[in-house]
Amino acid sequence: MDKSDKVSDIRSGEKGDGGIMENEVIKEQKETFIKLLKSTEREGVDKLINYLETKTDFFTAPASSKFHNNFDGGLLSHCLNVYKNFKSLLELRNIDYPEESIIITSLCHDLCKVNYYVKEQRNRKVDGKWESYDFWATGKNIALPLPHSSRSIRLIKSFIPLKFDEELIIFYHMGPYGGEDYEYKNLLQNVNERYPVTLLFYMADLMSSYMDESRAEN
Ligand SMILES: [Fe+2]
Ligand SMILES: [Fe+2]
Repeated sequence: MDKSDKVSDIRSGEKGDGGIMENEVIKEQKETFIKLLKSTEREGVDKLINYLETKTDFFTAPASSKFHNNFDGGLLSHCLNVYKNFKSLLELRNIDYPEESIIITSLCHDLCKVNYYVKEQRNRKVDGKWESYDFWATGKNIALPLPHSSRSIRLIKSFIPLKFDEELIIFYHMGPYGGEDYEYKNLLQNVNERYPVTLLFYMADLMSSYMDESRAEN
């Protein structure tokens, strides 16, 4: 079985051979992630990696509780998908954007999801018989009680500096779903016009979630 088969296995959410396959894919993706982040040589990046490895569940966390990549390692795989799609969209539109910024925004935009999902065991009746299944719930007491994007930015900036355009990309990566108020919507339009990279990043995040990632049926 080649690498692409293993990737499709993990994306389909199948357990494969008792989890060994998943661990292998996660290990490879973790190596890629760390290599990419280190290549940016951004001040503090080693501390950020150490934090992710020793204080968080980043490398095994899901990307969501019941939607895209809702399985072990889903968040890691999502960030790598966003990196690939963001690069493709920039290339498509001939936009010259620094590689280190592509890496930092793609790999770190969802750091708000670390230590956030909790795997629970639930029971259900299938064909008259009770069986238990894994369910990802969201934690109640978030250490940093800030909304999605602001939480990621706060976490990232406690380890590495962010350039202003990187912060804009991460802050507006949820596009129209990032805020309800009138000012947010106006600013989003303004920012998307002035900094097209913010629009392309939002699209890369959507493409990853809807086109590259799947949902494990619980
Ligand atoms: Fe996000
Ligand atoms: Fe995302």
